[in-house]
Amino acid sequence: MRPSRCYLSGAFVPLDEARVSVLDRGFIFGDGVYEVIPAYARRPFCLDEHLARLGRSLRAVGMGDPMDRSQWSALVGRLLADNDPNDQCIYIQVTRGVAKRDHAFPENTMPTVFAYSFPFPHAPLRLRQSGASAVTLPDMRWLSAHVKSISLLGSVLARQASAEVGAQETILIRDGWLTEASSSNVWIVRHGQLLSPPMDNLKLEGIRVALMDELAAAVGVALRRRPVAEWELRCADEILLTSATKEVLAVTLLDDRPVGAGSPGPVYAALYAAYQLAKTPAEQPSS
Ligand code: PDD
Repeated sequence: MRPSRCYLSGAFVPLDEARVSVLDRGFIFGDGVYEVIPAYARRPFCLDEHLARLGRSLRAVGMGDPMDRSQWSALVGRLLADNDPNDQCIYIQVTRGVAKRDHAFPENTMPTVFAYSFPFPHAPLRLRQSGASAVTLPDMRWLSAHVKSISLLGSVLARQASAEVGAQETILIRDGWLTEASSSNVWIVRHGQLLSPPMDNLKLEGIRVALMDELAAAVGVALRRRPVAEWELRCADEILLTSATKEVLAVTLLDDRPVGAGSPGPVYAALYAAYQLAKTPAEQPSS
């Protein structure tokens, strides 16, 4: 197989030869933003939405956009064409660039742009059939969780807590209310209704958040956005996670207790099926 090539500030180089300066502000301060874009059979899914969020993240941290929309799309297309046709994810990271170490923004610094493609980490069949396990933790991340920042220590520590007990995700609670999970949005089902906390500065607005509106409408599930209390999470009939890599995943064990019936429920099944349809473009009838 060809060695995987990545994009680094203007050049395509083998991934294991790509180098950035130790003075890059991404390395020194975690001063940058990122995106993870899923792609199926070389077709990016929700590309416009991901690129729009990248633009929002850059604006939120006072960084200019180093490329326009068509340049970003061309970069994603090139990385997908260069890699094997199996499902991939494109990772994009933009940092404030290389500068003398000083917390304040440097002047006239070129941003560092890094992008590469990695194989889509499909959830194993076992998790699709039995569901995932999750643990809960207090949400100790900063108050701008809506920015897709590469400063991810809070998420890393949260995720490690579930990894250490063999669980797949850590669900975060702030002051008795559900926020999200270490790297996914969280949904619960109660009395047949799908509930998700309203988006604000305490959660990342996942690209699948708006998509779930469409999918829930398509499969006839009522969806309400309102604060979700910790106790509601704990007695939910179903718990779902969404992210670029998890797609839609059922949580069937929360803090060692079964969720609902203890197996993936009907709302999960309907939404997962709808997601699979949405990500696969319909065949054009041949003329
Ligand atoms: N994580 N919330 C957090 C904190 C996340 O890190 C993510 C995604 C999501 C879901 O967003 P989306 O639907 O756009 O993937 C919610 C990515 C996949 C990651 O960091 O790897």
